[in-house]
Amino acid sequence: MVQPNVQPAVSGEASLLNSTTAGAAERLFAAAASAGVIMTLASGYRSFQTQATIYSGYVNTRGQASADTVSARPGFSEHQTGWAFDIGDGGGACSFEPCFAEQPAAVWTKGNAYKYGFVVRYPWMHQEVTGYYYESWHLRFIGVEAATDMANRGIATLEEYFGLEAAPSYS
Ligand code: DAL
Ligand code: ZN
Repeated sequence: MVQPNVQPAVSGEASLLNSTTAGAAERLFAAAASAGVIMTLASGYRSFQTQATIYSGYVNTRGQASADTVSARPGFSEHQTGWAFDIGDGGGACSFEPCFAEQPAAVWTKGNAYKYGFVVRYPWMHQEVTGYYYESWHLRFIGVEAATDMANRGIATLEEYFGLEAAPSYS
């Protein structure tokens, strides 16, 4: 894991990505900056223990069924791989909130991330496929070729792209 040369909103392990994703993130963030869009790295790599803490926090406040719609169980989060990260916009009012989708960072990302090899992994209205509510901030690196192919074909989720079953639950 390495620290990409982008504006971090966090420190420690959360500011790390695997080296391939870090390089792509640097190109993504630079392109956003060129477009006048402020973007920060809000959550990158997470250890199993970190994901366990995050997930149990949701379970404690909203119960397991609801927690499962917004947070991966430890061992199942893309954040544990270094291939995914969450973006912020340096503001914070809408960080990790539904209204982030209307902020410039998310709007720009939705239209441009594929050029740098990223997909918005949990898109709007695809909860029945991905198992998670819309996360306009969560990006997953899959490579420029695959991300561009998905965009060109209008395929919204990795499950559909790879012909996998929908994953609305763990059972
Ligand atoms: N919030 C996403 C689903 C995760 O916990 O990895
Ligand atoms: Zn995320």
